[in-house]
This record gives sequence, C-alpha cells and structure tokens, in this order.
Amino acid sequence: MTTFRAPQAVAGSRILGLGSYQPETVVSNHDLAQRMDTSDEWIRERVGIVNRRVAAKDEGVVDMSVIAGTKAIEDAGLTPADIGGVIVATCTMPSTIPNAAAQVATRIGIQAAAAFDLNAACAGFCYAVATAADIVRGGSVRNFLVIGAEKLTDWTHQDDRSTAIIFADGAGAVVVGAGDTNEIGPVAWGSDGSMSEVIRIDDRDSFIHQEGQAVFRWATTQVAPVAIRAAELAGVELSDVDVFAPHQANLRIIEAIAKRLRKNGAREDLKVARDIVESGNTSSASIPMALDHMRSAGEISSGDVVLMVGFGAGLSYAGQVVRCP
Ligand code: UT7
Repeated sequence: MTTFRAPQAVAGSRILGLGSYQPETVVSNHDLAQRMDTSDEWIRERVGIVNRRVAAKDEGVVDMSVIAGTKAIEDAGLTPADIGGVIVATCTMPSTIPNAAAQVATRIGIQAAAAFDLNAACAGFCYAVATAADIVRGGSVRNFLVIGAEKLTDWTHQDDRSTAIIFADGAGAVVVGAGDTNEIGPVAWGSDGSMSEVIRIDDRDSFIHQEGQAVFRWATTQVAPVAIRAAELAGVELSDVDVFAPHQANLRIIEAIAKRLRKNGAREDLKVARDIVESGNTSSASIPMALDHMRSAGEISSGDVVLMVGFGAGLSYAGQVVRCP
C-alpha cells in the first residue's frame, strides 16, 4: 500500500516577535458614570478597570489586526514574505464571511497565506498559539502570524452597565516560528459547553449577555488548575515562572488565580499582568496586548518564562508556557 509523505517536522517552535495596537479614544470610569448608573469606585473595586479604549466607528477588527500584526513581524526581524500563515483569534467580526485573517494577510502584504479565524472567545489567543505552534512543529508552515483582536464595543449594549463597563477594543499579535529548541510548551486546554449559556450573544441583532457571578465563580475555581497543568506539561516548576499573563477579565479574578499559583510554588516576585486597569477586558486581545505593554514598560524581558492562560465564553480555556521574545 502506498503511504504519503509527511511534512518535515522541526525541533521546536518559539515566539519570535510581539506587537499590539489600541484605539486612540480613552473612556474613563468617570465618562461612563456620566451616562449610566455606575461609579468610578464601584468599577475599580469590583473589576479593577480605570480606563479602557474604544475603537472609532470606521475602525474594525481587521484594521486593528493589521497594525498589531505588522509590529509583531517587524519585532521578529522578519518581513511579510517570511510569513506563511495567519490566524486571527476573534469573536467580534461584524459578519462571519469573509474571515478576518485573509484580509489581514493581504493588507500586510503576505502572499497566499494559509489564513483562518479562530473563535474560542477569551481563550482564543492561547488556542491560536497552540494551533500555530503545532503546525510549525509539524512542518507545514515555518512562520505563523497569530493575532488576537476584538471590537467588543460593537457587540456590547452601551446602556448595559454589567457589560459596558468591562468590554473594550484592541489587538495583540505574535509571530510563532520554527526553532532549534522548543520554547512553546504543550497546551492545557478544554471546554465545558454545559455552561454555554453564561456568556452568549443570542443572534446577530443581540448584544453580549453575561451572568457575571457564575463566570466569576468558575474562573476563580477552575482556571488556576489549567495554568498549573500547563506548567507541568512544559516540565516547568511554578517557581521557574517569571511572568503570569492571564486573560484580563477582572482584576479580582487575576489576583485570585495568582494567589493560588503562589500557594502552589510560584514566587512572591512573580510578575502578574494587570493590563486590565488601563485597557479593560479585550477578550482574545488581552494577553498579547498585556505582554507587549509589560515589555515596553521594562517589566519583563527577553528570555523570561511566561505562563499564559485564557478563559471565557464556551466555556473555553487554554494555557501554555512560552518564552518572552
Ligand atoms: O472575559 C470573559 C470572562 N468574563 C469574566 O470573567 C467576568 C466574570 N465576572 C465578573 O467579572 C463580575 O461578575 C462582574 C464584574 C461582571 C460583576 O461584578 P459582581 O461583583 O459579580 O457584581 P454583581 O453582578 O453581583 O452585582 C452586584 C451589585 C448588584 O446590585 P444589587 O443587586 O446587589 O443591589 C448590581 O446591580 O452591583 C450592581 N451592579 C453595578 N453597580 C454599579 C452591577 N453592575 C454595576 C455597575 N455599577 N456597573
């Protein structure tokens, strides 16, 4: 019987570059308190957000992805000609076809890219990194551009104080490329569709509905074990982790998970991403954006061991250990 050639697998995959983009308009808690029944104090205390960014009317997921993606390619020291594939993790495109990735590839100048969108909501970026890392290791693509981008304000009812204070817009990107050593650990991932009701958009005329407390309880109890498992799968002790970059859902959730990691061996000086304070909750964009901001601020450096974990609608979750480029 004839068997078929397999692509030439490579030794490992790694993150080669990082970039992000935030829209210009800043909306503060005070701005929101002018138009709905909320307060700066409530939002800071319950969610930890102070400011968030909101995209312009004519600025979409594709526009933001192009800017973040271009920066990540430059940061990797590559050109668009070096990129073979594009994944856009997003759940907020205005329509389902065409996808974002093919448009992003063409606008960046990447020819004939393998291009697809991936929807795992707030876990989307980690799902996409896992997918790209495996494709690169398998040998089908040498360099993959992985973007998390959301225009959540399009899908958030601006009078709904339970969601309008949280969700924001932005994009973050990485280049996942082939390496002689492996610097992206195996993914710990999964889902629980029995809780799909708790974050949903019912149809194209609806807005995000979130049962905040149910999601909060799930996130504060179920996500830390995923992060711990990701470290185990990578063969990394929690004490070796320099940076914890969880999805920026709520500062109280972030602190609760970080506390649990420290109880399980993570260092007291573990750097924890708190980008939500100035950026809000940007779903699949939140992790790469947080990392890019932390690196620009000099809080993390090249070579740092980063533990990422995404979680949200689905319910879906995914985490892995990566080395900071
Ligand atoms: O990113 C995807 C994953 N998503 C998440 O992880 C989100 C998880 N959930 C959360 O972050 C929190 O549940 C929220 C931030 C969404 C809400 O915070 P909470 O502490 O769970 O508040 P709550 O919904 O239990 O509401 C407490 C009270 C209620 O008033 P009563 O019934 O106690 O009188 C709400 O009506 O706060 C009220 N409230 C507000 N008050 C001022 C709700 N939203 C607001 C608001 N401003 N914006």
